[in-house]
Amino acid sequence: MSEHFDVHGGARLVGEVEVVGAKNSVLKLMAAALLAEGTTTITNCPQILDVPLMADVLRSVGCEVVLDGDTAHITTPSELSHRADSPAMGKLRASVCVLGPLVGRLKKAVVALPGGDAIGSRPLDMHQNGLRKLGATSSIEHGCVVAEAVGLHGAQIWLDFPSVGATENILMAAVLAEGTTVIDNAAREPEIVDICTMLTEMGAKIEGAGTSTLTVEGVDTLHPTEHRVIGDRIVGATWAFAAAMTRGDLTVTGVNPHHLELVLEKLRLAGADITTFDGKGFRVVQPERPLSVDFVTLPYPGFATDLQPFAVALSSVSDGTSMITENVYEARFRFIEEMVRLGADARTDGHHAVVRGVDKLSSAPVWASDIRAGAGLVLAGLCADGVTEVWDVFHIDRGYPHFVENLNRLGARIDRVATEPDRC
Ligand code: EPU
Repeated sequence: MSEHFDVHGGARLVGEVEVVGAKNSVLKLMAAALLAEGTTTITNCPQILDVPLMADVLRSVGCEVVLDGDTAHITTPSELSHRADSPAMGKLRASVCVLGPLVGRLKKAVVALPGGDAIGSRPLDMHQNGLRKLGATSSIEHGCVVAEAVGLHGAQIWLDFPSVGATENILMAAVLAEGTTVIDNAAREPEIVDICTMLTEMGAKIEGAGTSTLTVEGVDTLHPTEHRVIGDRIVGATWAFAAAMTRGDLTVTGVNPHHLELVLEKLRLAGADITTFDGKGFRVVQPERPLSVDFVTLPYPGFATDLQPFAVALSSVSDGTSMITENVYEARFRFIEEMVRLGADARTDGHHAVVRGVDKLSSAPVWASDIRAGAGLVLAGLCADGVTEVWDVFHIDRGYPHFVENLNRLGARIDRVATEPDRC
């Protein structure tokens, strides 16, 4: 049975909302638990669909995983399977992050190609090249990445692009390689700092977390740890955009505002009053109609591609014209087709979009194509006349814990409905 949301337009969001652990961190931390025999405990886990899926991936290679509310207990045996090709692998992108730990520990891995959002081409060449530099062979065979090494040794690795996933996989193999690995042009996202922190707690030797150069001194073994996931900056930013779009007043806790400096600055330019609470959260008050602002997506500390749909949604109801440039995933502008159904005045040309703000959007049935596009359509629906039906909401459930419940508590009216759509 399909589910959709009926989003009633005209809401103003007011109140306080707590953000829990980051999806794009917890899934990698769960994979990192493969590196140490024994029980690793991860707290502040978000209750989203991808966490039990990742638990299934870990079980498929021999771990015991107990999910207890916001805590994951992962028991990794001494004998792991090198074969991660269960059906859960194809349901999320982060499943590929078992590759690095399996190669690190077993010097051998067969890992099914991952699934995840249809947001553009997502090759694994940098992951494979990095493992090759560490001494492994790597090929794609029968839908799986196959990697094997006699022994892993430290290496100098330059990434063509600061890929989050490639940085994580190479890092997780390098922590158990012999000698020193230097990863240049490494990703600098807060989630990379989080995994470096956890690996260091497990006994790894890593320098440079949060910079473009990571230096890893390989060790013989790692030990389990207990680690708290950092707050989800993308979810935190979603609430910030929600406040700005609905001319609301939201206090967001559980997320470090330093991870959102550029986002909050953009919203300031759009006319929001912003207060930050050191390391803990922030408040966004939008007194008037937002003003148009330009956005350019780039790896961290640039404006995150995951927030591009919210930039488009905000621009579509702002006063003036915005230019939005997408530099990471070419297919993310698909979202604009759905926004046009809602009456947005937006067009794309290559990796640029021009959005002229309209006074009000008008409700229509729309389809979520990925997690962030889905959440963006819900926020747009709050700014539309009438009731907007948002379909394929399973995407939203993969990334946003209790999204509808939180929105309704803050002043929205959204119903989750289980029926078949009437496509127009
Ligand atoms: N790329 C390559 N070759 C590679 C790896 C990446 O060409 O070997 C390219 C990609 O095609 C893309 C760019 O590099 O153009 C960036 O990709 P990256 O590897 O950084 O992305 P990822 O690790 O696959 C994570 C998040 C995404 C987020 C991106 C960028 C997870 C599970 N996913 O993906 O999050 O958009 O980083 O910040 O961590 C989301 O949460 O909605 C989401 C899609």
